[in-house]
Amino acid sequence: MKDFTQHGNTTTFDHCVNVARTSYRINHALHLHADDKDLILTALLHDYFLYDWHDHSHPLHGYTHADTAADNAVRDFPLDTEEEKAIRSHMWPLNISRIPSSRIAWIISAADKICSAKETLSGRHSGMGLKTTDGK
Ligand SMILES: [Fe+2]
Ligand SMILES: [Fe+2]
Repeated sequence: MKDFTQHGNTTTFDHCVNVARTSYRINHALHLHADDKDLILTALLHDYFLYDWHDHSHPLHGYTHADTAADNAVRDFPLDTEEEKAIRSHMWPLNISRIPSSRIAWIISAADKICSAKETLSGRHSGMGLKTTDGK
């Protein structure tokens, strides 16, 4: 995940760390009481699709990568059904029929959109609260 660019100069790995951090903040700021361990694990794996989506080999990436990420995550990590479903629904409303169905799913879907917008607009280290894993 560190080898693939997600948005701007942000790697997929750093994007997932940003989404995990933002999910944690949303959970606590809004007193949503989602389980932190489940929330962070799922956020870290929500884009575990393991390819470079900029190389045009996955033209429907926006619609398909949530299922690819969930399939890979279930294959490689001990996720429960709620966590798997949260990954599959994180692109709602683009995937209109995949409505988030749990607290974790709603938090990650919202955090993903916040982080994606920040990363796209402001680049790698924005001064908008995002950090990269290499400290920049
Ligand atoms: Fe995604
Ligand atoms: Fe994402």
